[in-house]
Amino acid sequence: MSESPQNSGVCESSPDEKECRNESVDGGNFNNNVRVVTQEELESKIGENDSEIWLSVLGEVFDVTEGKSFYGKGMSYSGLSGKDCSLGYVTGIFTAEEAAKDTDEITDDMIPGVLEWLSFYKTHDSYKFVGYLVDPRFYDEHGEPTAKLIATRKRISLLNKSK
Ligand code: HEM
Repeated sequence: MSESPQNSGVCESSPDEKECRNESVDGGNFNNNVRVVTQEELESKIGENDSEIWLSVLGEVFDVTEGKSFYGKGMSYSGLSGKDCSLGYVTGIFTAEEAAKDTDEITDDMIPGVLEWLSFYKTHDSYKFVGYLVDPRFYDEHGEPTAKLIATRKRISLLNKSK
């Protein structure tokens, strides 16, 4: 999925429901064969006992184990590990409370910052895409985008259009 152009625009041609269903939030193709990641699984990937380190941005989960000097226990960005703290990528607050906030709290002016980090993880040589996070804000247990994510994608699409 990371072969698609980065930040090419979400639901660019028309932000209708069908299109927003089939695209990643930053314009990548949605792949039905991709695996889903549960909250429990993500929470367990924080580098403890030599586990992997995973994190999620807008419901897209990445393995960032290679970045353990940033994301490992006690490191500066360990608060991003094992969770989706999309808002934190612009607020700089890396707490569980921040990670629990609704995507509505990511205001329009914050969106580009979050997408930049998503693109960072997607294109990073050492970080690998894992799957889609099962979360009411992002994906359901079949890996389908939730109504909430579709709404977020529409918002991003409209923002791109108004640029
Ligand atoms: C919204 C605020 C911020 C966020 C979301 C953020 C996020 C991050 C992340 C995720 C990394 C690891 C990148 C990787 O995986 O390679 C990183 C690295 C780093 N950050 Fe931040 N950061 C923020 C603010 C700051 C501030 C204020 C400073 C300095 C005063 C800073 C200095 C650094 C440095 C020096 C690195 C290491 C760069 C390297 O060695 O490649 N960051 N940041």
